[in-house]
Amino acid sequence: MEHPWLKLSQEIAEEIKIRITPLLGKPESGKIVGIGANGAPTLRIDEVAEQTAIKVLKKNLASFLLISEEIGNLVVGPQPELFVVLDPIDGTLNATHGIPFYSVSIGIGTNRTPLFEDIEFGFVENLETNDTYFAFKDKGAFLNNKKISTSQQSSLKEAMCSIYINDKSLGKVAKLCRTIKRIRSLGSVALELCYVADGSLDCVIDLRDVLKVTDIAAAKLILEEAGGIIGNSNGSKFAFELDIKRKLGLIAANKKLFTKVLGLTK
Ligand code: IPD
Ligand code: CA
Repeated sequence: MEHPWLKLSQEIAEEIKIRITPLLGKPESGKIVGIGANGAPTLRIDEVAEQTAIKVLKKNLASFLLISEEIGNLVVGPQPELFVVLDPIDGTLNATHGIPFYSVSIGIGTNRTPLFEDIEFGFVENLETNDTYFAFKDKGAFLNNKKISTSQQSSLKEAMCSIYINDKSLGKVAKLCRTIKRIRSLGSVALELCYVADGSLDCVIDLRDVLKVTDIAAAKLILEEAGGIIGNSNGSKFAFELDIKRKLGLIAANKKLFTKVLGLTK
């Protein structure tokens, strides 16, 4: 498939890979260099990846609104015709620890005060394996250009799920953890949502309420276009602005499991 937004995203992913490769496995990649717009530390590798993405965006687009994890909101040019919601690296700690599961996540749309539902194009690439997930609104979801869809798994007992747990969420996921036997927690929620989209996982549950809009934005569209359902911590729609300061939880699953998962988290 060819589309300028897909080409732009592929170029961003390529450039990020080139620029972060020399840092991988080196202690300096994990050095804290500042505090990001959402209040979390920015590591050297995040900064390099974000600056690289901004350079590519500026080269290709005359005017845009950027909502990015470290820098926050940035208006480039006189009249933004589109917005780009970016996580330059999702799974930073995997990258700094040599675990080959981290990604770049890019959502694009045209509304000027963007909400989650205004994302028209989502792109997530595993920066180690080069596996590329993307979706256009109402046009389906793709992995390496092949159409994907969620699993048909309907039994929680047999399901393979990613569940994130901390002190705050432990009580809320206890029943689920007693029911689901195959539990994972892989460290790049954008990629894990794409894994639900292509049926590798059956659900992702994170009720810690710590996720950023940039972690979820692009993969949410990919998952929905693949036939999955995603809701926030109480299962309702992501009817939110793409506000970098917002902290979120999520429940994502194939259509057969979503209500079952929700029932066990109440
Ligand atoms: C992290 C990943 C991870 C989730 C963390 C996020 P980051 O994103 O999405 O899966 O558990 O809460 O912070 O910080 O590497 O972009
Ligand atoms: Ca990040």
